[in-house]
Amino acid sequence: MRRCCLSMVIAVAFCLVSAWAFAADGEALVQSTCTKCHDLGRVRAAIGVKDQAAWTTTVARMLAKPNAPAVGAEEQASIVGWLSTQSK
Ligand code: HEC
Repeated sequence: MRRCCLSMVIAVAFCLVSAWAFAADGEALVQSTCTKCHDLGRVRAAIGVKDQAAWTTTVARMLAKPNAPAVGAEEQASIVGWLSTQSK
């Protein structure tokens, strides 16, 4: 019984930590990647307007521009994840 509770606590703690890491990563990546060509005003204007599908398209379009920084698929997913869960 004791053992069972302990592993539940560990599992819940792990979920909280990974959700937090996901959010922090996405935000940091937006700050560092999306300010290369324009400020966050453009990004903020679209927050709460674009859904996840729209953000996927926009982020892919931004990162396909000739002078865009190289961003891996995983980072790109964190960026889209963070952007589509924010609200104004
Ligand atoms: C390589 C330069 C560059 C980078 C990096 C970049 N952008 Fe942009 N972005 C632009 C330019 C240029 C425009 C205006 C022309 C256009 O819409 O293509 C723009 C326009 C936008 C717009 C308004 C147009 C629309 O489709 O809604 C949004 C929102 C946006 N960017 C979000 C982002 C986000 C989020 C990131 C980070 C993943 C990002 N941008 C990174 C160059 C960039």
